[in-house]
Amino acid sequence: MVYDGTEQNSNYESFAGYYDLFYSPTKDIDFWLDVAQEMGSPILELGCGTGRLILPLAEAGYTVYGLDVSTKMLDTARKKQEKQPDISENVTLTLGDMRDFSLPCKFNLIIAAVSAWWELHTPEDRLKAAQSALNHLKEDGSLIIDKALYTKKDLQGYRFKILRHIGTIALESDQSLSCFEADTFDEKATTHNRKKIFFLDRVSASGQIERQVFQFVFSYIPPDQMLEELEQIGFREITMYGGYDRRPFDMSSESNERQIFVCKK
Ligand SMILES: C[S@@+](CC[C@H](N)C(=O)[O-])C[C@H]1O[C@@H](n2cnc3c(N)ncnc32)[C@H](O)[C@@H]1O
Repeated sequence: MVYDGTEQNSNYESFAGYYDLFYSPTKDIDFWLDVAQEMGSPILELGCGTGRLILPLAEAGYTVYGLDVSTKMLDTARKKQEKQPDISENVTLTLGDMRDFSLPCKFNLIIAAVSAWWELHTPEDRLKAAQSALNHLKEDGSLIIDKALYTKKDLQGYRFKILRHIGTIALESDQSLSCFEADTFDEKATTHNRKKIFFLDRVSASGQIERQVFQFVFSYIPPDQMLEELEQIGFREITMYGGYDRRPFDMSSESNERQIFVCKK
């Protein structure tokens, strides 16, 4: 099949069954465990997906809440939660939109990890989400947003030419499943500027290939704009880190690896 770019935009409902097979990075988990130790619980994760982060946090003894707009992503998280009855009562999963939610408690820590904030496409959406988070924080509680960071050079390379093989797994049915990923970035657009396309190839023992294509559109926001938007909300103090090692974020250099915002109420 030749990809002609015409597929409809996908959503997490259709991709939920594949998310954990190919996307379960662990490099941020120690960072969040350290933060949780300092700030305590309850902790709320916005866009918690399949529970990649909240389950290890619950295992470490914290009371965690997860909010997500996708029923299927939450179903996957619930199935994993059910397999761990010892932590089950530490975890509350809620279907809802991070731009407008109402939960019956206030939190010491609210987190938006990896790409969750990219799902908010307009400044108004991000403002609403940050305001809803602020309303759900205890005094002195913090909203922490972690996002990928791209240099200008990185972004110039995102022109669909990047095709990565994410992995291949054997399925019980004598089939294999391979995932490939391509990215594009539209430098001229200020919103809906990053597109990720996943190609999932199911290969049977006889060599027949069935391909499914999933397409996600994100909005990449540079750190200076992120900071400007968060400053409008009225957090008492905003600290920026340039990596999971908590190096200070340096706006004037390319030494940062992430853009992490710690917004204190
Ligand atoms: C890439 S997944 C990340 C999941 C998880 N945070 C992780 O680190 O593995 C992004 C999640 O954000 C959720 N999401 C997107 N827009 C949302 C919104 N407006 N409110 C709540 N969740 C949202 C999606 O359903 C999806 O589960």
